[in-house]
Amino acid sequence: MTDSPDKDNLFSRPRPHLVDFAFDEQVARVFPDMIRRSVPGYDTVIAMLGVFASHYVTPHSRVYDLGCSQGAATLALRRHIHVPDVTLVGVDNSSAMIERCQHNIAADLSPSQVELRCEDIQDTPLENASLVALNFTLQFLPPEQRDAMIGKIARGLNAGGVLVLSEKICFDDAQQQNLFTELHHEFKRLNGYSDLEISQKRQAIENVLIPDTAEQHRQRLLRNGFSQVHCWFQCFSFASFLAVK
Ligand SMILES: C[S@@+](CC[C@H](N)C(=O)[O-])C[C@H]1O[C@@H](n2cnc3c(N)ncnc32)[C@H](O)[C@@H]1O
Repeated sequence: MTDSPDKDNLFSRPRPHLVDFAFDEQVARVFPDMIRRSVPGYDTVIAMLGVFASHYVTPHSRVYDLGCSQGAATLALRRHIHVPDVTLVGVDNSSAMIERCQHNIAADLSPSQVELRCEDIQDTPLENASLVALNFTLQFLPPEQRDAMIGKIARGLNAGGVLVLSEKICFDDAQQQNLFTELHHEFKRLNGYSDLEISQKRQAIENVLIPDTAEQHRQRLLRNGFSQVHCWFQCFSFASFLAVK
């Protein structure tokens, strides 16, 4: 049996010179398979974005999906917006991702208008927002730039608006960190990744994806303009927070 062209086997052969992970054409080609086999609970988080959209999106407002990749979250939001005159804005700085996102959005018939922007999310003007999704993306910003990003999102939200922030998290407790790392690797093995793939991907991404603890996220959200923070989902070291302005 031959592998499907979209199967992630980027790290299946020994790579003597591993370079830092990037969201380039190679990664974009296999990304939907990669994220589902690597992030426990990803499909649940995507599906629940629809619930948040249905509950929080208000008429005549804007909804942002920051770090939209190929539009999985954008589409989950779009399909559950039931109020008029809403514009969805999807932003990603990888042209390989945005091209595929454009294609996926065009194939969807939901009514809300979608605007796609290929740029750094830190440069995106945010205004009149009822909901912002930051789904597994803040973790790729340099840690010292994360407070400014969260503050900017809070300022762009209308009163009562929400941020859904999903992230890989780390733990202060070494035992919990080791246990959840092992369970995550077990999840990946059960999804068909070899030990070589797991270890090479880990090395490639460790300088690029820098996780915070759940408490660091909570404190950052509270000091930058949010009044309530709820961790509504966690599976091993993957968590999602609902932050209310
Ligand atoms: C793990 S993926 C996000 C997955 C996506 N939100 C989803 O739910 O399917 C991270 C994305 O963020 C993008 N990204 C990372 N840093 C960025 C930045 N500073 N500005 C814009 N996009 C960024 C990457 O290109 C990548 O597509």
